[in-house]
Amino acid sequence: MNILLLGSGGREHALAWKLAQSPRCDNLFAAPGNPGIAQAADLVTLEAGDHAAVVAFCDANRIGLVVIGPEAPLVDGLADSLRAAGIAVFGPSRAAAQLEGSKAFTKALCDRAGIPTAAYEHVRTEAEALAALTRFGIPVVIKADGLAAGKGVTVAETRAEAEAAIRDIFSGRFGGAEAVIEECMVGEEVSFFALTDGATVMPFGSAQDHKRVGEGDTGPNTGGMGAYSPARVLTSALEGEVTTRIIAPTVRQLAADGTPYSGVLFAGLMLTAEGPRLIEYNARFGDPECQVLMTRLDSDLVDLLAACAESRLAACAPPRFSPEVALTVVMAAAGYPGEPRKGGAIAGIAAAEAAGARVFQAGTALDGGKLVGAGGRVLNVTARAAGVRAAQAAAYAAIERIDAPDLFCRRDIGWREAAREDAPTP
Ligand code: AMP
Ligand code: GLY
Repeated sequence: MNILLLGSGGREHALAWKLAQSPRCDNLFAAPGNPGIAQAADLVTLEAGDHAAVVAFCDANRIGLVVIGPEAPLVDGLADSLRAAGIAVFGPSRAAAQLEGSKAFTKALCDRAGIPTAAYEHVRTEAEALAALTRFGIPVVIKADGLAAGKGVTVAETRAEAEAAIRDIFSGRFGGAEAVIEECMVGEEVSFFALTDGATVMPFGSAQDHKRVGEGDTGPNTGGMGAYSPARVLTSALEGEVTTRIIAPTVRQLAADGTPYSGVLFAGLMLTAEGPRLIEYNARFGDPECQVLMTRLDSDLVDLLAACAESRLAACAPPRFSPEVALTVVMAAAGYPGEPRKGGAIAGIAAAEAAGARVFQAGTALDGGKLVGAGGRVLNVTARAAGVRAAQAAAYAAIERIDAPDLFCRRDIGWREAAREDAPTP
């Protein structure tokens, strides 16, 4: 089968690496890709926003499966255009991708399906928002409606901070001037993944990421500075509860609404004293969570993604994951999550991989044949080992071999799980 992968980040490098290992994969194409993805796929020039061009490429190259990595083309309806042309695609329709594209859509769906989540109000004007605020305690969570690349959420510790966030949203900085005001939930966060073809739900592993730029989870939010899998705090009992109380009702409700969801559901969960509750959904794999999931996945990825795309997931064996821990450390460019410094030289990837890690590339480019930084998050140094301490040691040992003066990383990725591993078992 010929496969087209869309995207250019570390998530897509991990997907490309895994797709290319499948005996079912004949030719793997990627657009726009990056120098790391080019090791596993043929890079092609294709604009994901030009649906007709993507369809024409698929027809000309007998593409049997399109895998859409990032959320923007999903929210933009690329999967709909491909399905309309009879091309199998892994990723939800525009209507179903609203689970990620609109916080208000997801909250309303949770209401209809009885899914445990934070109490909320959906507001459309600044005055409505300020009035609603008085009905919530502090801290309170303020979210811009619509895609905001992880930057539209404020967990406000004071009323003044909440009011400032509301003013910011209604100043139009996030495009649509709508917001969701939410009760602040307390607990530990985990990410849970499930594949679905709209009818069957297949749990696909757990992870925890580190969203803040600084050690000890301090400083501004980022797309994620590192992750590990599995998240053992999500026990198999809790995973069962999440599947039956959150994921399955979501899939059933979307099907009943006439907008079945096909692809991966990425649930951000809060493990509260009252049980797991949904924070948010994403309509794609997490980045860098995907890198650790792919590092643990022993099953054939093409089988699973094609089964979702072709609505035959029920006939597919559940995924096999290594019981080992995978951990990835993001190396980001100086300045990130603000304006990253670009163009800095990167060397030592082969040495890092010889030391036992795998280096997925995100914001990289070739400049006169030399690898340089070209984005905020640049490399994902990933290791697999029996425990989180061992995986941490392997990833950081590999980082020592990388010579990239413009890049920095957090030195404490996996700290929650490492502390649990160090604690004497009761
Ligand atoms: P989101 O973009 O919805 O994932 O939100 C970003 C982050 O804000 C989450 O990872 C949580 O840490 C935090 N957050 C969002 N909603 C809530 C909530 N209702 N209660 C507590 N924390 C939240
Ligand atoms: N790492 C979080 C995300 O992909 O949204």
